[in-house]
Amino acid sequence: MPIKIENLSFTYQAGSQWAYAALKSITLEIHAGEMVALYGETGSGKSTLLQLMNALLIPQQGRVLIDGVDTGKARGVDLQRLRRKAGLLFQYPEEQMFELKVFDEVAFGPGNLGLDRLQIKQKVREALELVGLSLPHYQNRPLNSLSSGEKKKIALAGILALEPDYLLLDEPMAGLDAGGREQVREVILHMQQKKNTAIIATSHSLQDFLEVADRIIILQRGGIFLDVSPVMLMDKLHVLPQAGLNPTVSMEVIHLLQNRGWPLENRVRNIEETAQEIARVIKGE
Ligand SMILES: Nc1ncnc2c1ncn2[C@@H]1O[C@H](COP(=O)(O)OP(=O)(O)OP(=O)(O)O)[C@@H](O)[C@H]1O
Ligand SMILES: [Mg+2]
Repeated sequence: MPIKIENLSFTYQAGSQWAYAALKSITLEIHAGEMVALYGETGSGKSTLLQLMNALLIPQQGRVLIDGVDTGKARGVDLQRLRRKAGLLFQYPEEQMFELKVFDEVAFGPGNLGLDRLQIKQKVREALELVGLSLPHYQNRPLNSLSSGEKKKIALAGILALEPDYLLLDEPMAGLDAGGREQVREVILHMQQKKNTAIIATSHSLQDFLEVADRIIILQRGGIFLDVSPVMLMDKLHVLPQAGLNPTVSMEVIHLLQNRGWPLENRVRNIEETAQEIARVIKGE
């Protein structure tokens, strides 16, 4: 089942002198098992779009349907169910953490699912392991003693413990070191391949998800600027700056060599594939 977004517009402080149209006429469909990287410069509407997909915000115009249920019409328990189904990692995870200790924070979701203590502990253990943290080391740590990267991982574990059908990650890479970013990519692949979870993850940096994404969506001033497969991105190199995005190093190298007459294929995602493509041309294959 998909998340369907139909002609969606969203204005903050609508009707006041501070009204700001953050999203304009967005139509999209996100399918089970799809990994969508959502890019765009600051203020382009990425967080607003994710919050609408999580029913934290409700459309003023158009509709968001999660597995056929209109978020604008859901109330009470149904709204809670939608928010669990489309789990959102906030851009600033502190804003979604309420407990004092790590264990209670990650256990909050499973605790509401009617599981017994052992089952809850198992869910917490698995979720922490997925983000690379061990239960014995972390379970009793006070949340306010954690680094910001650790907090982000705990918030992510809390969402994974709910086993959402749609995983909405708002800047999951921001503030993480290289190992942490790789861990997030592994979580994405795990959820996609083992659970058929659809993932929508935002970033300012193309490189963050280029290797794991099935689809790239770029927002510009609240509208969809591009919606393409990652291998098609090279063809759009010249328009990326209009959306405030830099090409990756691989894209630039391929482009520069092509300009010098090298017959290189466009369809590369990372440095390794780029090196292989250059080697192929040098060898005259
Ligand atoms: N509560 C609010 N009231 C008024 N305007 C808002 C509010 N929240 C966001 N906006 C505006 O809506 C626009 C889109 O914001 P949003 O947070 O969705 O952008 P973003 O693409 O996530 O940006 P960033 O990359 O900086 O996280 C911005 O111009 C922002 O100033
Ligand atoms: Mg944002």
